[in-house]
Amino acid sequence: MDFKTEIKPILWGGATASSQYEGGWNEGGKGLDTQECRPYLPKTSNATTQTRLLTRKNIDEAKKTKTQMYYPFRKGTQGYYHVEEDINLLKELGIDVYRLSISWARLFPTGVESEPNQAGIDYYTEVITKIKQAGMKIFLTMNHYAVPIHLVDEYGGWSSRELIDLYVHFANVVFINWGNQIDYYLPFNEINAGYFSPYNGLGILKEENADYDLSKVFQGLHNQFVASAKTIALGRELTKAKSGCMVSVFCYYAETPNPDDNMKLIQEENINQWFCSDVLMRGYYPSYMTRFFEENKITLNIEPEDLKFLENDTADFVSFSYYQSSVISINEREMTAGNLVATIKNPYLKATEWGWQIDPVGLRISLNKVYDRYQKPVFISENGFGDYDSLKPDGTIEDKNRIRYFETHFEQIKEALRDGVDLIGYIMWGVIDIVSAGSCEMEKRYGVIYVDADNNGEGTYNRYKKDSFSWFQKYIEKEKLIEN
Ligand code: BG6
Repeated sequence: MDFKTEIKPILWGGATASSQYEGGWNEGGKGLDTQECRPYLPKTSNATTQTRLLTRKNIDEAKKTKTQMYYPFRKGTQGYYHVEEDINLLKELGIDVYRLSISWARLFPTGVESEPNQAGIDYYTEVITKIKQAGMKIFLTMNHYAVPIHLVDEYGGWSSRELIDLYVHFANVVFINWGNQIDYYLPFNEINAGYFSPYNGLGILKEENADYDLSKVFQGLHNQFVASAKTIALGRELTKAKSGCMVSVFCYYAETPNPDDNMKLIQEENINQWFCSDVLMRGYYPSYMTRFFEENKITLNIEPEDLKFLENDTADFVSFSYYQSSVISINEREMTAGNLVATIKNPYLKATEWGWQIDPVGLRISLNKVYDRYQKPVFISENGFGDYDSLKPDGTIEDKNRIRYFETHFEQIKEALRDGVDLIGYIMWGVIDIVSAGSCEMEKRYGVIYVDADNNGEGTYNRYKKDSFSWFQKYIEKEKLIEN
């Protein structure tokens, strides 16, 4: 028998998330949500952490009609007012698939209404119809962090089981209205974010001067697992769309061959990275969590019926975001920032201006590990390069470093395909510039399409093509020629 490796064609896409992109926070009866209560805090060492750890006091401040704070997610990058223009740009770019999310509070302003808000339905009907007319597939994130603030006030966010049914009701409305136009969907963005970022991931407020109660956090995750499985069960009745789960992948390396560093790696990887996808892809709680729950005195309310749902309704594909790799050591070293969690500096890698360590080979490693673990099709649902960009007077933007980032990461995707990974597609994060989810900044940009706005929400919000736009356009064209 002769052996021949093969590079099979994959889908190429781009993504935005409603809270970071749409704006129009009070248009058409939309309700206030958790992201719209996060202020922009000018850079200090802990601004990013602070704007992710909101307390009751912060929410009360955000609800005031007059406040000194600027809340960037209320403006996003004005996608709400640029539907036609943005979809035309994406069509011109030539992507196969567009990942977008639905704002829960635009469909259900408080989250508890029995009937959806018609203006919200009309808005997404227009968006989804136009995407399909432009010939793109739809990858829908049903919920990308933002939770109607009423659900935080009344129920304590996802720590309450009540949110399961409220969410499934929302998902049902999504399927009934657009189920036959959706190709792929995720019930939740980066579900493991609930652990590192309980406000973003679960809508759980931090107590003043106290750590998060881990029982509430893991109860919140459990409730999301059940909501996810119930949504997939419903999706299987109502649509032909493929269901996925998504985690943020950190690609851990042990700093040394010291067995203790390597044991710590396994523990960190299990809790931070694999736990959520293990539940959603395998259909049961992994055995390593029992000890973690015991040692951290975590108690959970898990109903027998929940376990049935988890077992019966695992996801069709596994997806992940990948931005950088991380280093684990039993000795704390100089740390650098990262997507959701800080990590030790890796001397072999360069980092972005935000300290995220650039590691294309880490993408290949992660693809191999994820595929090997679940043996289900994989989707890279987020990857990209956050950088400062400047708009020149002639309307151009040179972004060589972003192009280099893509070139090197795409080479590694090819390697992973030759390794035998069953990859469905690659989705570029923030294809149109959007507000940063971590630090609420505008100047940390990912897009190949520039949006003229600054950290304080000043600017024309006009769109411009960066140099990476034509680079990506040509790359996709070339890939299509190879396919045919
Ligand atoms: C992921 C999120 O964690 O990382 C996105 O799903 C986010 O919402 C992305 O934007 C990049 O992070 P940041 O902080 O640079 O916006």
